[in-house]
Amino acid sequence: MLNAHFPAGSIFSVHIFLIPYLCHMSEMRKVIVTGGTGYIGSHTVVELQRAGYEVVVLDNLSNSERSVLEGITAITGVQPAFLQIDICDRQALTDVLLMHQDAVGVIHFAAFKAVGESVEDPLAYYANNVGGMISLLQVMSVLNMDNLIFSSSCTVYGQPEVLPVTEDAPIQPAQSPYGNTKQICEEMLQDAAAAGLFHRVISLRYFNPVGADPSGLIGELPIGIPANLMPYITQTAAGLRDELKVFGGDYATLDGTAVRDYIHVSDLAAAHRIALERLIEKRHATAFETFNIGTGKGSTVLEVIHAFEQMTGVSLNYRIVDRRPGDVEQVWADTSRANQVLGWTAQRTLEDMAASAWKWEKRRVESKE
Ligand code: NAD
Ligand code: UFG
Repeated sequence: MLNAHFPAGSIFSVHIFLIPYLCHMSEMRKVIVTGGTGYIGSHTVVELQRAGYEVVVLDNLSNSERSVLEGITAITGVQPAFLQIDICDRQALTDVLLMHQDAVGVIHFAAFKAVGESVEDPLAYYANNVGGMISLLQVMSVLNMDNLIFSSSCTVYGQPEVLPVTEDAPIQPAQSPYGNTKQICEEMLQDAAAAGLFHRVISLRYFNPVGADPSGLIGELPIGIPANLMPYITQTAAGLRDELKVFGGDYATLDGTAVRDYIHVSDLAAAHRIALERLIEKRHATAFETFNIGTGKGSTVLEVIHAFEQMTGVSLNYRIVDRRPGDVEQVWADTSRANQVLGWTAQRTLEDMAASAWKWEKRRVESKE
């Protein structure tokens, strides 16, 4: 695997002797997951382990807890390897990837994700999200590692002119520094692929991930007051918040509230495994590919609220207020490419999303009592 020529005395020349031994340590196919203790990462670790992969999680725990590893282990019966590192620390990342250079691929989740925070502290977002990606790409490229899956977002489309939105829709100017980091990272990947540094990269553009593993043992861990709809709903239902504010009731939609394509996090996790297998089996059409990952169905905020109420039997105290600045009116995915090319389709309903999110919330509340 190692075909780069490293300068004598460099870290690479020291570690090169270890590689034949490390490569034979395991017969299982190994996958590196950056940000693997986070919300989407932890569900993807479960999906990969269930499919028989050996998973190595890299995370600095800046937005997750070590206890997530216990949840994963309780679900799958397998403890993933965990290394607490900051992927921006190129030396630490090099040391770790040298040990796991036999991995068949890397799934890259590690990034900051709060839109509002990115407006207040843009440089932290560029440093972590863009800096972390540069660090990862450079180390992977030097170590001749390929097969990379990147977490992108439907925010790259802004308010699309045509709905449902396809991957070929024009990329709109970013609405926030966070959104801009996703656009910059996609551009970097495209350029790195065009330069022949990588031969197999997939960017998955997620729509709105919600829900939790059906076990209720892992889920989303919002810090402070949730900015996103589903955790706000579950926290209101649990009595942690007095009232749910519905941002905007005068949009040109079915019931006046904004439309999004909510996707169950376990379906999203499956998309990562399937995309990775496309790369491992070299079924890719071009070096850099993009796929929308949604259900292909839009739901209004009120539809989500009513699905939650119906599923759980809990009635929510909600009120329609002014629009939230920066929100688009409606967006949902054309998922044809993911359906036909990847062979992936979302399986779970809005009710599944509500039920699993509620199970996770109740478990968290009970564990604190
Ligand atoms: P999350 O915050 O739950 O998970 C991210 C994980 O990365 C955390 O565990 C955090 O500790 C870790 N991390 C952050 N910076 C790191 C660094 N420099 N080094 C090592 N670890 C680091 O977020 P999530 O919701 O699971 O999102 C995962 C990815 O998907 C992110 O890239 C996010 O931008 C993207 N995404 C998320 C959504 C969403 O709505 N959740 C939508 C579209 C795209
Ligand atoms: N909403 C409310 N009340 C709330 C929270 C949200 O009415 O308390 C509404 C929003 O106004 C929006 C919809 O619910 O109309 C969904 O809002 P979210 O904040 O849950 O999700 P967004 O579509 O704004 O954005 C999310 C992530 C982004 C990501 C994007 C696409 O926050 O990081 O999905 O994946 F890029």
